[in-house]
Amino acid sequence: MKAWRVLEHGEPSTVMRLEHDVPAPVPGSGQVSAQVRAATVNFPDALLCRGQYQVRPPLPFTPGIEVCAQVVEVGPDVDGVAPGDRVVGSPSLPHGGFAERTVLDASSSHPAPAGLDDASASAFYVAYQTGWFGLHVRAGLRAGETLLVHAAAGGVGSAAVQLGKAAGARVIGVVGGDEKVAVARALGADLVVDRHREDVVAVVKEATGGRGADVVYDPVGGDAYTQSSKCVAFEGRILVVGFASGTIPTPPLGHALVKNYSIVGLHWGLYAQRDPDAVRQAHDTLCALVDKGLLTPLVSERVGLDAAAEAVQRVADGRTTGRVAVTVV
Ligand SMILES: NC(=O)c1ccc[n+]([C@@H]2O[C@H](COP(=O)([O-])OP(=O)(O)OC[C@H]3O[C@@H](n4cnc5c(N)ncnc54)[C@H](OP(=O)(O)O)[C@@H]3O)[C@@H](O)[C@H]2O)c1
Repeated sequence: MKAWRVLEHGEPSTVMRLEHDVPAPVPGSGQVSAQVRAATVNFPDALLCRGQYQVRPPLPFTPGIEVCAQVVEVGPDVDGVAPGDRVVGSPSLPHGGFAERTVLDASSSHPAPAGLDDASASAFYVAYQTGWFGLHVRAGLRAGETLLVHAAAGGVGSAAVQLGKAAGARVIGVVGGDEKVAVARALGADLVVDRHREDVVAVVKEATGGRGADVVYDPVGGDAYTQSSKCVAFEGRILVVGFASGTIPTPPLGHALVKNYSIVGLHWGLYAQRDPDAVRQAHDTLCALVDKGLLTPLVSERVGLDAAAEAVQRVADGRTTGRVAVTVV
């Protein structure tokens, strides 16, 4: 089969190689193998290529952490998933999704929403699950609160904007550049700040009558975190989601003490490992929100399998909006 493989760590466009004769992976106990229909690019794919992700699969490996796929074969001890099922989920590395075939743990294979095509369905797992657990389980977002989302036109950011609106929050999005401003507005953000041209802290304070944002969704770190700490509300919650800027903040805890706010870590993958039932329930809730028209993955580009490495590089460089889906069939 065709599969992209990483043989050494480095920049995605340099180290990802498309190979044409890779053996199709075989499902182990509790796993299924599946024909990939579409795989969405995530920032962690770039971190995997660089060897900087929290998981470091042995070399060589195939990146691609999110797919819509059709089950071909089930391994021993699998219940509830059968050949022919159209599922979404995270592949079991080293057999990632930028390939014709992949392997998933049955516990992380969920029915693909019927109302979403393959590309959109492939973008309906990691970002929405992360947003759901972050906003509701970790930060306790309430209707009427103000939610500030950094990288609001990006992958996890665009999902957080939609989830914030679905929860009845007022959403302020922060983005870099005119094109992304338009995307964040179209997603439903009530107010959009262009970080290249505007003072994020001043805009948020003015828009909230000086109170600040109740919940901050931060997949960026670096300067974005510093700005958040300056415009978070009394009893606010800053969700630490990721570090796309490349800088992991080291905040002075005295500041959290004097301003009465919480710094809340979020590693959604741990929920997937420790509490698959909670992930399944969240998936059902999220599918119901799709049916109501409240969530629609923002797939702004569809590229063929041959273009996967270049797509991962563009996400790594912050040059994309929404999601880039690699369509395989
Ligand atoms: N905690 C979890 O469980 C979890 C789950 C999934 C993903 N994540 C993390 O979430 C982050 C975002 O992932 P994603 O796939 O959704 O990516 P993404 O948001 O589509 O891309 C990153 C965005 O960050 C912004 N950015 C600001 N400074 C940047 C810089 N120096 N370099 C690159 N981008 C920069 C850019 O948006 P603007 O130009 O608009 O600011 C860029 O588009 C990653 O760090 C990922 O690891 C965490």
